[in-house]
Amino acid sequence: MCGIVGYSGNKQAAAILIDSLKRLEYRGYDSAGIAVFDNNGMEVYKEKGRIVELEKDLPEISGFIGIGHTRWATHGKPNKINAHPHASGSIAVVHNGIIENYQELKEKLSRSGYEFVSETDTEALAHLIKYYYRDNLIDAVISALKDIKGSYAIAVLSGSELVAARKDSPLIIGLGEGENFIASDIPAILKYTRKIIFLDDMEIASVSKDNVIFYDTDKNPIEKKVSVIDWNLEAAEKSGYEHFMLKEIHEQPRALHETFAGRISELEGKITIDGLNMTEAQIMDTSRISIIACGTSYNAGFLGKYLFEELSGIHVDVEIASEFRYSHSIPGSLVIVISQSGETADTLAALREAKSSGCRTLAITNVMGSTITREVENVIYTRSGPEIGVAATKTFISQLGVLYLLVLYFGKCKGKLSQERMSRILIAMKQIPSHITRLLNTKDAIKKFAETVSSSSDVFFIGRTLNYPIALEGALKLKEISYIHAEGYAAGELKHGPLALITKLTPVVAIATKGLTYDKVVNNIKEVKAREAPVLAIADEKDSEIEKYVDEVIRVPTTEDILSPILSTVVVQLLSYYIAKARNCPIDQPRNLAKSVTVE
Ligand code: AGP
Repeated sequence: MCGIVGYSGNKQAAAILIDSLKRLEYRGYDSAGIAVFDNNGMEVYKEKGRIVELEKDLPEISGFIGIGHTRWATHGKPNKINAHPHASGSIAVVHNGIIENYQELKEKLSRSGYEFVSETDTEALAHLIKYYYRDNLIDAVISALKDIKGSYAIAVLSGSELVAARKDSPLIIGLGEGENFIASDIPAILKYTRKIIFLDDMEIASVSKDNVIFYDTDKNPIEKKVSVIDWNLEAAEKSGYEHFMLKEIHEQPRALHETFAGRISELEGKITIDGLNMTEAQIMDTSRISIIACGTSYNAGFLGKYLFEELSGIHVDVEIASEFRYSHSIPGSLVIVISQSGETADTLAALREAKSSGCRTLAITNVMGSTITREVENVIYTRSGPEIGVAATKTFISQLGVLYLLVLYFGKCKGKLSQERMSRILIAMKQIPSHITRLLNTKDAIKKFAETVSSSSDVFFIGRTLNYPIALEGALKLKEISYIHAEGYAAGELKHGPLALITKLTPVVAIATKGLTYDKVVNNIKEVKAREAPVLAIADEKDSEIEKYVDEVIRVPTTEDILSPILSTVVVQLLSYYIAKARNCPIDQPRNLAKSVTVE
């Protein structure tokens, strides 16, 4: 998730591009750049780090047309060369999204003599547009986009021509007096205009200072509706959501889509994991895995344990990083560290401990270039984009996405997983983002139950096997943002003690989706109902039995049993959010917590 901008008008473009980019830094901030054209040609300036780093050494630049970018690296580490804009001759491109077939395009263009200087997918697009350029930019862009697989929002500058296009990544056009704007999101241009046109997928815009012409991909002109935005800036940065956490919960379909992009080929039933440098032989030799992490990332790792053991037959120890440092790693095992920030001190210390005993290391992280990425042999990125809310949501879902990919890949290499089952799961995985969207559209029942239990002082989350880690995650989310004492339990464990705490004042959230242990979870529900606890069940949409045993049912779309924890996660996130909201808690900045814990 990067931020792109474009400007054509009667003011100096550089200052406007920089100012607009600053308002998009919540989308990415590891490197930035602008390109501006005036009669002396095009000038490109790029720098590593936040916009201020670029701004401080920027010379006086004249020119009334330009493009800009603030980056959240997915392909190629954050540095000056990989920063956007990427140029090919007099053509410059800024891009938000992922070009899945960029390797293929790179080979084709290299054979035609194009030289690549960066590690990015986007540079291939710049050369591809140059490759098709004859006498106008719009035709070249249309031809190039026909060769592209993946997602994109782009702004392309060539001389005084400025073109924008989108597929799957957001893009808007801002209409001004004698000036027009391109931006990834409203905050970038709200200061300059409230007249916005939302570009839809497969639409292209030719932008000049006096007008904007819209086309489809066959260059047929199209009419577009102008919307007038009445948001204030803060609301705009949250895209109209009240909190970043709620916005990020709603970004999960995209985060998972991007995390799977270019990694799943459900037609071939194949998985490709960029960043995994282990050979099949090394995977075959892997008999033991230690997953090490903290907090929410630990809960993701815990689910990973169940998945690895079920689908690949490999024994997994899941370790709390702050404890692991004082136990001993097993030489020869694969150590997987999970950290969205890539900067958590306990996880880094545990990693160094593991490395000192010669373990192979792999990190799952969301931040390219973070410390953890520089200390492991394999790095697999979640592609959630920057997460602002302290309570991790979309990064957790993307961590689960990467773990499912990894486990299936290992299971296949180990011959534990049949091609038939692998293909069935991959097809179902590709549908999960739209299942989440459906779930997000049916949150009223969750809101209602949240309001009924928001004055509780103790809440329990229960689940079995794959759903136990999700019960832990639900409890952690609720603790973090609502300050209610919440516990996650393996449902079968209640009768060994915690059941003593269950009364009509202790709401229970039971994850009761279909699976091997469904009947047993229903028995555990009867146990807590017998103590008059209010019970909310998370159940499959086709489950016609469950409502007999509980007070409220939240139904999740039917999918492969092994994938349902992803959907149950969205329910426990929303439940925690609406309970905290009913208690007027400072949801994005809960007391006593930090987004990245860089101290031990
Ligand atoms: C989760 O909502 C919390 N922010 C916290 O538990 C977090 O998961 C933990 O500090 C680990 O952070 P990391 O993933 O960046 O390493």
